[in-house]
Amino acid sequence: MLVETFLEGQEFSAFALVNGRQAVLMPLAQDHKRLRDGDEGPNTGGMGAYSPLPQFPSETASQVMTTVIQPVIDQLAAMGAPFVGFLYAGLIATSEGLKVIEFNVRMGDPETQVVLPQLQTDLGAAILTLLGGQKPRLDWQSDSIYLGTVIASAGYPRNGKDGVALPGITAADAMVSYAGVTTKNSKWVSHGGRVMMVTVKAPSVLAAQKRVNQILDHNVDQQAYTWRHDIGHSAIS
Ligand code: GLY
Repeated sequence: MLVETFLEGQEFSAFALVNGRQAVLMPLAQDHKRLRDGDEGPNTGGMGAYSPLPQFPSETASQVMTTVIQPVIDQLAAMGAPFVGFLYAGLIATSEGLKVIEFNVRMGDPETQVVLPQLQTDLGAAILTLLGGQKPRLDWQSDSIYLGTVIASAGYPRNGKDGVALPGITAADAMVSYAGVTTKNSKWVSHGGRVMMVTVKAPSVLAAQKRVNQILDHNVDQQAYTWRHDIGHSAIS
């Protein structure tokens, strides 16, 4: 029997680039793990994300650095196992402060798709600077929300159907990231549960949510695919 503390609050993700001693934090993001609107239904690999998170005060990022990321890096270095790479903290903001749910040593999906487009400077150059032992300067956009919704095969996560023609997303403001896709008879078709993600940027979470819903409702067959319409709801409410 495993007894866990019940933690109440909003979950969010923080990614840091780490060179063994120093870390650079990326904008915070929030995933939506349940299949259906209102965070109902089975857990999935993530049905959508947005970033940054306007519902959190600006100090949250520095708290993440000082209370979570830096202590972990310092402790690993002190143990003779300095960590180099992407450190992903899955966190929850409770009434008693930040708590860690999990760590991963990679960036998150689908959060990466809404975090990396915000970077105004070169990621490769930043990684090389960090590996050279210096803290790089990463410039992030700060006037928009990036919000993306995952299009999954109908029946996902249990019986997602493969081989369905991909929706054509032609909106000029949509950024499309492909995941579970393959070719069949020289055509792109679905192959796996989460097929693609459509991301837009807008001045607010509500505007971004409305725009992505408009694009998907207009272009995606609801019999063949499933997606959420409430990505970003925690920021809106
Ligand atoms: N967003 C969840 C994960 O990448 O594990």
